[in-house]
Amino acid sequence: MKHIIPILALSAICFACKKTETVVVADKTKRFSEIHRPQLHFSPPQMWMNDPNGMVYHKGEYHLFYQHYPDSAVWGPMHWGHATSKDLIHWDHLPIALFPDSLGMIFSGGAVVDEKNSSGFGTAANPPLIAIYTRHDAEMEKKGKNDYETQCLAYSLDDGRTWTKYADNPVIKNAGQRDFRDPKFFWHEESGKWILVLAAGDHAEFFGSKDLKSWNKLSDFGMEYGAHGGVWECPDLLPMTVDGENTRKWILIMNINPGGPNGGSATQYFVGDFDGEKFVCDTDKSVTSWLDYGPDDYAGVTWSNAPDKKNIFFGWMSNWAYAQVVPTHPWRSANTLPRELFLARVNGSLRVRSVLWDGVESLNQNKKQFANLSIQDSLDLSGDIGFPTTKSLLKGEIEAKDFSFVLSNSKGQNVKVGFNAKANQFFIDRKRSGKTNFSAEFVKDIIAPRIASNGNISFTMVVDVSSVEVLLDDGLTVLTAVFFPEEDLSQLKIYSPTGVIKVDSLTISQLSSIW
Ligand code: FRU
Repeated sequence: MKHIIPILALSAICFACKKTETVVVADKTKRFSEIHRPQLHFSPPQMWMNDPNGMVYHKGEYHLFYQHYPDSAVWGPMHWGHATSKDLIHWDHLPIALFPDSLGMIFSGGAVVDEKNSSGFGTAANPPLIAIYTRHDAEMEKKGKNDYETQCLAYSLDDGRTWTKYADNPVIKNAGQRDFRDPKFFWHEESGKWILVLAAGDHAEFFGSKDLKSWNKLSDFGMEYGAHGGVWECPDLLPMTVDGENTRKWILIMNINPGGPNGGSATQYFVGDFDGEKFVCDTDKSVTSWLDYGPDDYAGVTWSNAPDKKNIFFGWMSNWAYAQVVPTHPWRSANTLPRELFLARVNGSLRVRSVLWDGVESLNQNKKQFANLSIQDSLDLSGDIGFPTTKSLLKGEIEAKDFSFVLSNSKGQNVKVGFNAKANQFFIDRKRSGKTNFSAEFVKDIIAPRIASNGNISFTMVVDVSSVEVLLDDGLTVLTAVFFPEEDLSQLKIYSPTGVIKVDSLTISQLSSIW
């Protein structure tokens, strides 16, 4: 847990002298209108947030819990913050759901609806919501013990409003593994049991249970597979059907920090089969596939119990390389927009593709459409668009030649999103995007391979006040990046540096704030 080492040092200081942090107090009148505050993305009203946790759909509500430290805008003793949404776009902030206790902090984990009351905590008529999270005992860690992370259970009988911790916690003990956390679990129909996956340093471990309380270990996966530039964290295991085929596969999502394709935190995945006991990967050990190549999509997993069995993914839109020093006040971090995951066969190999949650379209206010644009050198679209692109959705299709979309402001600050045809790579350039000097990591090159092999490039791009999410080639290549301009990036230009480029279609929608 490389990033946790400095962070724990900090939390230790906090424990020792009560407060070394300046507690930032939110001015309620300014909430959600502060500079850099995302207007389309979920963020906590104030203070620190990291991973999304316990995402479960229940009785018409999407519950989002999240790693939260309510006393400071940097990481500290973790709680589970709570919010709900009916459409995954607009959110209601609710009171904190889980507090640290004498046994430690409340780290990441999952939640399910225990439909058949297999745990016995509810009744058949009122099935319980069950959360299983990692309890992290920082005191034990300080003493040099290895088994400071265990998996604990809490249940709710009132639709997630209040939670009771199970008296016989932990439900999964630790046999001496230093990093042993972030359980995610689901009912596996074929083998008639609950399956839980967690991250154990450099591999995943699978467990099985009939009642969610007593778990036995089934198998390990991953020691020699994929990327190992950092610690494995926040896994997810989900079945997916290949687009246009009857083939069903299992996808193992595994977050890693550091060691991402553009430095720091990122999300890799493996395609394979799961038989209720073990995960067998289809690809060669050396293959690494990334769900999002951008620097700012981490710790993402999918919603449990989503309507129509959709695989809806939600990530934390930051990176441990600089998450604690980004220039936002009085909160830190937002989440990505929800994305639906699909599995596509591309040149013989299976690839996860991400599609922006269609609920985003409900925020459309104004729309401007362009067709068959031929661009020589550059085209300034700002006047024609007629509204600022600060909060906007761009969709279209463009020739696979060199191009860049440049979002800018009157201070000369900009973010470029483009394609380098020779290298067959997409890029985001945020080097001159405004406030950047809080971290050298922040101004590094951001590149991603084109995975689709030919044809025009289709794109979906969501621009918010301080982020851009770019989904290319029907979501085969995705990049997410945050930025902090001193003035909104409200103008848009398209550049064609190496000759004429054709933009077959381009629709730009102005989106309204979710708050
Ligand atoms: C990932 C992570 C998890 C852990 C949590 C602690 O960002 O390190 O592994 O449970 O954050 O806040």
